[in-house]
Amino acid sequence: MDRDQLVDLTRRALKLARDKATDLAPATHRVDAADYTSVDRHNRDRALLLASPQLVGYVSELAGPGAYCTKTVMGRSVLLTRTSDGSVKAFDNVCLHRQSPVVTGRGSAKRFTCPYHAWTYDNTGRLVGVPGREGFPDVTVKSDGLTELPAAEFAGFLWVALDPGATLDVAAHLGPLADELDSWGIGRWSPLGEKVLDCPINWKLAVDTFSENYHFATVHRQTFATIARSNCTVFDAYGPHHRLIFPLNTILELDDMPEEQWNPFHNMVVIYALFPNIVLSVTIANGELFRIYPGDRPGRSITVHQNSTPLDLSDESVAAGAQAVFDYAHATVRDEDYRLVEGLQANLESGARDHLLFGRNEPGLQHRHATWARALASATDQAAVRL
Ligand code: FES
Ligand SMILES: [Fe+2]
Repeated sequence: MDRDQLVDLTRRALKLARDKATDLAPATHRVDAADYTSVDRHNRDRALLLASPQLVGYVSELAGPGAYCTKTVMGRSVLLTRTSDGSVKAFDNVCLHRQSPVVTGRGSAKRFTCPYHAWTYDNTGRLVGVPGREGFPDVTVKSDGLTELPAAEFAGFLWVALDPGATLDVAAHLGPLADELDSWGIGRWSPLGEKVLDCPINWKLAVDTFSENYHFATVHRQTFATIARSNCTVFDAYGPHHRLIFPLNTILELDDMPEEQWNPFHNMVVIYALFPNIVLSVTIANGELFRIYPGDRPGRSITVHQNSTPLDLSDESVAAGAQAVFDYAHATVRDEDYRLVEGLQANLESGARDHLLFGRNEPGLQHRHATWARALASATDQAAVRL
């Protein structure tokens, strides 16, 4: 993001902090409790995610030719590779023989040998070796291969489509946000690994926790609220995506400082919600990524939490410090946000009350739910046209 834009956002955030105010939606909004609990809605949500471009990681996870990484997306194991010509490819990580994952983790390899019976694939997905060939007269080495999925690197991130026949148009998906996301550079920072939260909460409750900072003063009283304002958010929508600015307490110090001396990015956390299921949290030193997926039932979701840093991790003490920050951020989400919303999920499922209320001071929440509802309605319309 260029300095003029950052200064402009800082001006807006500073005014809100000074006035003890927050950006407001025009009205309050109700959503049905069933949105978080019904099997029908759960199935439609899953279909929505399957049909959407999926951000699965940072481009820095595939640093050079020969690099590979594996990702689990809604239970699907996906292998991503960077081939010798530098392009990114993605495949179902499912062996043609008896469906073992061919490889796990990440690293560098030009060939992958399945751990079960040693069928071997190159990093363009081609089957290049079958021990005991006479057992498989119908299998053609060098022409058969792993199922390829549409893949792209765009705006600093790795993207896949889970439908092999889909067209993956990430530029159209991100629209005007693409350049801004790219400008942070967080996709090119050093990745710090993945941590997984398998929780008894609907996936939308998980996304909701990142959609407002009204809860900071209570839920994060001892953690984030010691450095960040509560109930104070700059909100901007970008089609189905949105951006929130959470000002830090230090922003008030800018009041007495000429704008030319501002170091604006030092005074805020920038949160992006990318439709439908991705959250990014950007600060001067951390590029956190939350990939949030529906689980096997409405009341279960999987969050894959990643972080990247601009620091030089070749220094051991710097690397240990960066991991400690990642551990702290993860523990806060796990032990404060997600633990608390487990109670919401239980109440929603109890049927005691049939709706929830989103305040005018929660425009991010309102935007998330409005865009999901709109996308589901348009998917229903399209299905009706096909019938
Ligand atoms: S399942 Fe992969 S070689 Fe048998
Ligand atoms: Fe939170």
